[in-house]
Amino acid sequence: MTVEALAEDTRRRRTTKLGIVGAGAVGATLAYAALMRGVAQTVALYDVNTAKVRAEALDLSHGIQFVPMAHVEGSDDVEVLADSDVVVFTAGAKQRPGQSRLDLAESTIGIVRSILPRLVEVAPDAVHVMVTNPVDVVTYAALQISGLPPARLFGSGTVLDSSRLRFLLAEHIGVAAQSVHAYVVGEHGDSELPLWDSASVGSVPLLRWRTPDGAVALDAAARERIAADVVQSAYRVIEGKGATNYAIGLAATRIIEAVLYDEHRILPVSSLLDDYYGIGDVCLSVPAIVHAGGVGDRVEVPMTDAELGGLRASAEAVRATARRFGF
Ligand code: 2OP
Repeated sequence: MTVEALAEDTRRRRTTKLGIVGAGAVGATLAYAALMRGVAQTVALYDVNTAKVRAEALDLSHGIQFVPMAHVEGSDDVEVLADSDVVVFTAGAKQRPGQSRLDLAESTIGIVRSILPRLVEVAPDAVHVMVTNPVDVVTYAALQISGLPPARLFGSGTVLDSSRLRFLLAEHIGVAAQSVHAYVVGEHGDSELPLWDSASVGSVPLLRWRTPDGAVALDAAARERIAADVVQSAYRVIEGKGATNYAIGLAATRIIEAVLYDEHRILPVSSLLDDYYGIGDVCLSVPAIVHAGGVGDRVEVPMTDAELGGLRASAEAVRATARRFGF
């Protein structure tokens, strides 16, 4: 190992603590993904359901031998999250088949109101990542409830939707999802939109990608179908198994890594916008630089007029729901 690699390795091994609020399907899967990837030395779960949170912590602990060094704790006392470096908020109402994410706003905001102030007390230096839906409205409300600086509290946003988009594009084109660079922006929900114009495969602009027989790989009909598929993805999974958990667990883990490893990675998280192409006073996903301090500069991705119009409409949809609940 080179000296630089050794230093990097040591830096990554610094004792870190991940706190998770909610030991339901998303919280428990996130804990599992985080342990598998070895992102933190302590993974602490908090849930009001004592039996459930203890059982999840125990089940995860029984597998500790098989993952990188870690320690798991679970409790119905928020103190279990004391001094966390990152706290991920997954507790909230469950989306039932047919319900949109925005339908969950009232009950979720109530839960955030009852837990967040205490969380900020026990983990005063943490970066907070909201996952609970409707994540954009919840993030906006959480910022107001907590009074935290906007850099230190943001939402998982469309990191998952962008991953769904990349998966679908990769299948359509026949390359690895890792070679597709494309973002879904806006609401994590029905008004979100893919940014086709700036998307690329390898270094080829996506819209110029050709099939082996020379045809455009992604015509307007294919784009429309894939965009609709991304929006429908969660509904489809919820219809089949009642909840989504694996992909969001992995997406949230990726965000946590960007914070804990101070990666400066560009991720489409939901953050409080301030004059992003004139859009402000709303939490919405646009590509942003994520690092140890939380969310940094937003990236001004070039957009067509139609894409910008779509982003503005999405901002309006999220803002209207937030206003409906007094935020
Ligand atoms: C998801 O998109 C339901 O927001 C959750 O998987």
